[in-house]
Amino acid sequence: TWTTSNVVEESVAAIREQVGTKRAICGLSGGVDSAVAAALVQKAIGDQLTCVYVDHGLMRKGESEQVEKDFVAATGVQLKVVEAEQRFLDALAGVSDPEEKRKIIGREFIRVFEQAQAELVAEAGAAGEAVEFLVQGTLYPDVVESGGGTGTANIKSHHNVGGLPDDIEFQLVEPLRRLFKDEVRNVGQELGLPEDIVHRQPFPGPGLGIRIIGEVTKDRLDLLREADAIAREELTAAGLDREIWQCPVVLLADVRSVGVQGDGRTYGHPIVLRPVSSEDAMTADWSRLPYDVLSRISTRITNEVDEVNRVVLDITSKPPGTIEWE
Ligand code: XMP
Repeated sequence: TWTTSNVVEESVAAIREQVGTKRAICGLSGGVDSAVAAALVQKAIGDQLTCVYVDHGLMRKGESEQVEKDFVAATGVQLKVVEAEQRFLDALAGVSDPEEKRKIIGREFIRVFEQAQAELVAEAGAAGEAVEFLVQGTLYPDVVESGGGTGTANIKSHHNVGGLPDDIEFQLVEPLRRLFKDEVRNVGQELGLPEDIVHRQPFPGPGLGIRIIGEVTKDRLDLLREADAIAREELTAAGLDREIWQCPVVLLADVRSVGVQGDGRTYGHPIVLRPVSSEDAMTADWSRLPYDVLSRISTRITNEVDEVNRVVLDITSKPPGTIEWE
């Protein structure tokens, strides 16, 4: 019978058989799929697995801690964290064009990830243990989409795990290949992963880098992180997390408008709320959020976030608007 605990048991057995006594590596993105795949493999082979997490400084408030502390606490996984914030900020300095930002973030991510991977392979090799396996959080819909192929690495870059160094060939371990998203969440729950990871809404690989309209700087990222955290907190408090597909919070960094706060004139930035409902992100409609929730978010953001004096609501469906602004 098809129960979540059977799925876990069978996957663990299959992973043990596939990997044997060799070593495996898994990149964590902060998303559900890589987290559940890693937790399953960890359950199967323990310390033969090492995870890599690249902190590019473009994550939302608390997300890196979720991976670095909560995920590790829940699974006991060995984790290599690469702090790369400054590297990403340097690479993004002066860049406002959306596609250029995406290319830079993708490129830097692959470089950092490959370097970390090569280091791990070298360290393990020095200890006489071959690293032959790469864990991927590929889901059933991904398998169908790419024609059902399997085997050695040919990885879609949108999965955040980048390409592989030319000189290393890995066998793929894909424990989620037969599962849909909701089943993956059930497996994550069964494995005791933190709620915040198991029920995470979609978040783009380039992170907040594509939610700042204009140049990406540390100050702007910090500002957006605060505004985003407030919006998420209020949506969660209102019990709306499962109802909305996702709610990008966007900083119009190159726009200023006049406002009045306290007894002074302000000249600050607008924050855009982009709550959407969707089945698959291919099309979307703007979510009709309750006015009182919108009101709380607006009041809190303008009160609590310096330099923001206006909150606006994006009421565009997709098409014609995409979900993200860049
Ligand atoms: P758009 O903006 O194209 O977004 O309507 C559709 C969905 O994809 C997410 N998204 C991304 N996810 N890497 C990702 O992993 C990316 O580069 C990326 N860009 C957009 C977006 O958040 C939405 O869920």
